[in-house]
Amino acid sequence: MDRKGLWLGIVREFREHLPPVREDGVVTLLEGNTPLVEAENLADVVGSIRLLFKFEGLNPTGSFKDRGMTLAVSKAKEEGAQAVICASTGNTSASAAAYASRAGIKAYVLVPEGSIALGKLLQAIMHGAVVLEVRGSFDDALNIVKEITSNYPVTMVNSLNPYRLEGQKTAAFEVCEHLGYAPTYHCLPVGNAGNITAYWMGYKEYREKGYVSSLPRMMGFQAEGAAPIVRGEAVEEPKTVASAIRIGNPASWKPALRVKEESGGRIEMVSDEEILHAYRLVASREGIFCEPASAASLAGLIKMKKEGLLKDGDTVVCTLTGHGLKDPDTAMSISVKPRKVDPSMKEIVEALGL
Ligand code: F0G
Repeated sequence: MDRKGLWLGIVREFREHLPPVREDGVVTLLEGNTPLVEAENLADVVGSIRLLFKFEGLNPTGSFKDRGMTLAVSKAKEEGAQAVICASTGNTSASAAAYASRAGIKAYVLVPEGSIALGKLLQAIMHGAVVLEVRGSFDDALNIVKEITSNYPVTMVNSLNPYRLEGQKTAAFEVCEHLGYAPTYHCLPVGNAGNITAYWMGYKEYREKGYVSSLPRMMGFQAEGAAPIVRGEAVEEPKTVASAIRIGNPASWKPALRVKEESGGRIEMVSDEEILHAYRLVASREGIFCEPASAASLAGLIKMKKEGLLKDGDTVVCTLTGHGLKDPDTAMSISVKPRKVDPSMKEIVEALGL
């Protein structure tokens, strides 16, 4: 069959830029090739810039994690692993569970108790992972995962697994290919700090290979109550409505600081209020429903605008890392419940204000 024109997933599409995987061993759900959506209705908040959203919520399990997971699980399978394990604030575990199920290997998942979004928990369960809720934080869970993988035959698929970041860097390739150039700024939410590190790897590689001639300034945004990198010290009990980035001691802390230095960017923090404002704004004005953590990128951009950092004509890409449907509870908690009406024309017309 002629598959010309059909997307084959990031391992096959970006083969020449990634560690080699045996053709018959590729574990893929055809992730990647996510849309870069131009903002049309936000000029009053961000000014005369070109703003685009890289909507990673449209990956197969609803987050950017799938880019790294296809490669990490393909390599784990190639190396004969029987099981993978991760600690997660929800998206990594959803993705690990999905790709492991496809690979026919076991997934073990440790999540902080009561602290991950409902949809993500259900994804891991539905894909057949062994899920444990740890009475502790994400950081506690990650420490245990590290210890387990050094003592038992299970492969870690947190972003400390180098294949994860290799896969994730492909999002930067796609941005360059869609735009035809590298943006002025790239804004991202920062949790464990792997993704900002991966994007920077991707941009640098594309510049070295001559596909683009410049590099963006990388702008990372942590939540105020979970901002160890900004504050310069680990946060014992991280707190934020953005559960995906509720992390007090990021694994890629040092690499993220290097990204900031090398790119001339910043790592800053945004409040929960700013995150929720951006979350609602992008949903209600641009038709894109992302999860709260994802909106930290737009919240950060709005802050940059207020600080006078942006120039007319700048191109800014905000990555929206995960889909809003994963976290119905947060959406519900800030939403006005629909009014109930009888099936009466009069009452409905009146209620609609027609
Ligand atoms: N946005 C979302 C939706 C995430 O799930 C994460 C991380 C981030 C942003 C931050 O990315 O960690 O590379 O800086 N989620 C991880 C998880 C920690 O377990 O799903 P990062």
